Amino acid sequence: MGLPGSLVDLAGRRALVTGGSRGIGRACVALLAAAGAEVHFCARRPEGVAAAESELRAAGLRVTGTACDVGDRTALAAWVAGAVADGLDIAVGNAGANPAFGPLADLTDAALDRTLTVNLRANLWLAQAALPHMADRDASLVIVSSISALRGEAGLGAYGMAKAADLQLVRTLAAEWGHRGVRVNAVLPGLVRTGFSRLLWQDDAAAETVRRRTALGRLVTVDEVAAVVLGLCGPLGRCLTGQAIVCDNGETAVLGG
Ligand SMILES: NC(=O)c1ccc[n+]([C@@H]2O[C@H](COP(=O)([O-])OP(=O)(O)OC[C@H]3O[C@@H](n4cnc5c(N)ncnc54)[C@H](OP(=O)(O)O)[C@@H]3O)[C@@H](O)[C@H]2O)c1
Repeated sequence: MGLPGSLVDLAGRRALVTGGSRGIGRACVALLAAAGAEVHFCARRPEGVAAAESELRAAGLRVTGTACDVGDRTALAAWVAGAVADGLDIAVGNAGANPAFGPLADLTDAALDRTLTVNLRANLWLAQAALPHMADRDASLVIVSSISALRGEAGLGAYGMAKAADLQLVRTLAAEWGHRGVRVNAVLPGLVRTGFSRLLWQDDAAAETVRRRTALGRLVTVDEVAAVVLGLCGPLGRCLTGQAIVCDNGETAVLGG
C-alpha cells in the first residue's frame, strides 16, 4: 500500500464537490486539493463561488467553481459533464438544506418535496451523472448525510428522513458499482458550526447542551469532517464501501450530558 504519505496522496485525481463554497463542502474542496486533486465545486450563489475559488487559488490550490443549483437536475448534469473531461475519480455530494423545520404534523407536501430534492434526489442525480465516468478507476463517491439519519428529533423530521434515505442510496450504489471498482460511502456529521446549523449553536446554552452529549466534549469542525472524506476518497478507504461513517465526537455512541 505504500508509505504513510501516499495514503492521502490524490495527485493526478479529479474530484467534484457539491456545495463547495462554504462550510463542510469548502473544507472538503480545500483538503482534497491540498492532497493533490484537481477539484471542481459548485454552489448556487455566483459571488460565493467566485470568492471561494479566488481564495483557494490564492492558496495555491487547483480548484474551479461553478454556479449551479443541485436541485436543478439539468443544470447539475451539465455541470458534471463539463467538469469530468476524460474521467472522474472522486465525487462528494455535500450540498444540503433544511427548509422545513417544524413538526411533522405541519409538514406540507411542498416542503417535504424541497427537502427531499436537495438532500436526496440531488445525490441520486449526481450519482447518475458522475458514476459512468468513475468506473474502473478505483473511484470514490461520498455523500454527506447527518446523525439526523440515526435518531428522531422533534422538528427535524423531513430532514432526518432525507438523510436516512441517503444511507440506503449509498448502500444500493455500493452494491451496483462495486464490481466496477467504485466505492460509495456516507459521512454523518454531528453538529458543526456552519451557517447552515447556526440556529443550533448561536445560543451558547444550546451549543453547550450538544457539547456535553459528545464523548470528546467538543463540537466537530469542518476540517475534521473533511479529513474523514479525504480518507474515504484515497487509499486509506480502499476496503470501505456501503458504509455510514459517523463523525460526531461520539455523540450518538455514548450517554453524554
Ligand atoms: N453543519 C452541521 O451541523 C451539519 C451536520 C450534519 C450534516 N450536515 C450536512 O453537511 C452538508 C453541508 O452543510 P454545511 O453545514 O457545510 O452548510 P453551509 O455552511 O451552509 O454550506 C452549504 C454549502 O452548500 C451550498 N448549497 C446549498 N444549497 C445548494 C444547492 N441547492 N445547490 C448547490 N449548492 C448548494 C451553499 O452555497 P449556496 O448557498 O451559494 O448555494 C454552501 O456552499 C449538508 O448536506 C448538511 O445537511 C451539516
